[in-house]
Amino acid sequence: MKGKFFVFVALPYANSGLHLGHIAGAYLPYDVFRRYLKLRGFEVISASGSDEHGTPITIKAIREGISPEDIAKKYHKINLEIFNRMSIEFDAYIETSSKLHKEITADFLKVLMANGYIFEAEMTQPFCVKENLFLADRYVKGKCPNCGYESATGDQCENCGQTLEPNELINPICIFDQTTPEFRQTKHLFFKLSKLQDELLKYIESRDAWRQNVLNYSRNFISKGLKDRPITRDLSWGVDAPFEGYEQKKVYVWFEALIGYLTGVSEVLGSQKEALALWKDKEIKHYHFMGKDNIAFHSIIWPGMLLAHGDMTLPYYIAANEYLNFQGEKFSKSKGTGFSMLQMLEKYKAEYIRFGVLYNLPEDHDSDFSIEEFQNRVNTELIDKFGNFVNRALILAFKKGTVTADQIAQNDLDLEAERTIGNSISSMINEMNSVHIRNAFRVWLDLAYFGNSYVTKRKPWEACKKDDANCNAAIYTGAKLVFALAVLGQIFLPDTSKKILSWLGYEHPVEISEGLNFPVLKLTTKPEKLFEKIEDKELNLKLQIARVEGVTDHPNAERLYLLDLDLGDSKRRIVSGIKNSYSKDALIGKNIVVVTNLKQAEIRGEKSYGMLLAAEDENGIHLVIAPDSASIGEEVKIGDMQITSTEISIEEFRKFSIKTVRSDSCTVPALFLDDRQLFLEIQNGKLVLDGSPKEGLRVK
Ligand code: 2FM
Ligand code: ZN
Repeated sequence: MKGKFFVFVALPYANSGLHLGHIAGAYLPYDVFRRYLKLRGFEVISASGSDEHGTPITIKAIREGISPEDIAKKYHKINLEIFNRMSIEFDAYIETSSKLHKEITADFLKVLMANGYIFEAEMTQPFCVKENLFLADRYVKGKCPNCGYESATGDQCENCGQTLEPNELINPICIFDQTTPEFRQTKHLFFKLSKLQDELLKYIESRDAWRQNVLNYSRNFISKGLKDRPITRDLSWGVDAPFEGYEQKKVYVWFEALIGYLTGVSEVLGSQKEALALWKDKEIKHYHFMGKDNIAFHSIIWPGMLLAHGDMTLPYYIAANEYLNFQGEKFSKSKGTGFSMLQMLEKYKAEYIRFGVLYNLPEDHDSDFSIEEFQNRVNTELIDKFGNFVNRALILAFKKGTVTADQIAQNDLDLEAERTIGNSISSMINEMNSVHIRNAFRVWLDLAYFGNSYVTKRKPWEACKKDDANCNAAIYTGAKLVFALAVLGQIFLPDTSKKILSWLGYEHPVEISEGLNFPVLKLTTKPEKLFEKIEDKELNLKLQIARVEGVTDHPNAERLYLLDLDLGDSKRRIVSGIKNSYSKDALIGKNIVVVTNLKQAEIRGEKSYGMLLAAEDENGIHLVIAPDSASIGEEVKIGDMQITSTEISIEEFRKFSIKTVRSDSCTVPALFLDDRQLFLEIQNGKLVLDGSPKEGLRVK
């Protein structure tokens, strides 16, 4: 075994399901790196878990009206499911409310106390008189003293990243009732971080391989002078502080969450003692993944805690990523910006999401995410380029069956392919060793592009008109390119790669190494199509069944009616030009179909809240009607599309192509989208055109 690694990723708060920004900023890069190390044959222990204490959880509990335990349990489960579906793996995924974590935290604190790094002091804490409680840092909001941002919270400014104490905020208020808190004296335990200033400075200065953002942030943080930090809180939900007189208090959430890494390794090894012993093994390199707002805790506080514990290995590398933005704003679950992972997984395959995120990884600068671009990338890069190449190469290989390396005569193109494979492997290894995951992914993607153009130039279908060593070489080399992509791709697209490798006869993970060993091409299973293209399944057209309740003449227009409609839970009026074809009596009681997400319009001085569907021929107008059995207000299904109902203008509506078609000797409406014909359907009965006009009429 060549080396040992700990790979950690920040413990997400269990107060909501993860969103795409979390996956892009921390969990996917972490998973790719972990897979990489394992496939290089290194010994790896990885850990993370649910951060289940602190105000994010208690605030959510108050909002949802359930206990903090239940909140933590609920989101722990949801996040595990997300990781599972995304193939993001951990050796341990702990919960900070577990017994093990509480024990390990208590032990850790006792060691710090014994080593003289914990002391007691009085401090002032914000106290809300109205609620009669000490306010946790996050419960206080105010202006950031560093950058002037108006809604900084008492623990950190989300704008400039500065860590804060509540009393540093300008004009602080309690977030529950907007009153100004009093600052009252209370006794707490403090961590003597100031004592570690020199040692931590030396540590930071020795980290020249760290990313610039991490170094800059950490240097700046430390240059202001490290302050002692309170590590207990007046709270009821958290980890007990294991000292006399502290029975009513809890350990500060960040302080114990960081110890979660130790809990994770202890869980894997089944022993805290062994985990601590490994922490003293300086050969083990610790890699930490996180979003950039977590830097200080990992580059300074956690190393400080480890130094205070005595002779422990400090983080070797801190991979702090930038943010994934959505329409120019940071993804945020609390603000509802962007997409939650559950939303994404409902619509897209996990491997598509992995691909899309890796394509646009916010590694050294923020990156922007758009759904259109994402779908487009998957369709054109992953499916058209990579998928297509794999398919072309392997179908030929399958027809051929078996080729051994001594049956081939490679030409210049084949030799170029061999060199490209070799170069790609070395560059990818270099990039991954430096945790440049974005670059490594580019190397992989470039190899897929190369493969595509190789097949196009090499034309194996022509080379194989004769069954000889030249044909063998074309098939073998194409397949070897696929093999290389699958081997390297194991870290990015594990499921797809596994499938390809199994077609090539490899049932187990294949190590990533400089010399790619592909002695024989043997395909016994017919390769299937790897991917289905993403079709945009959303349709912004809301059609509902409405019953005509009343009909009156339009006061200012001869050919128009005002129709009063019943939509089940609401009523609305529309203006409609069907007077020449329908009498009032004929209309009353009819079930018709109305576009209900149409912008309201004014037609000759009367307001119209929607439009009915009808077609017109030389005999007049034919309404789209529903039988009496239909339920009033029901939303019409349009094929398998997901209906959205953002307001549209009449021009936007006219872009939809709805036409009459014949079905079972009736005339029915159908929507034409690309080359598909989608029927308009309801639950009980069928929508038809009144009077069965001919096919091909426009329904409007
Ligand atoms: O920012 C967060 O989501 C924190 N829960 C990260 C904690 S990382 C470490 F302390 F475990
Ligand atoms: Zn600020």
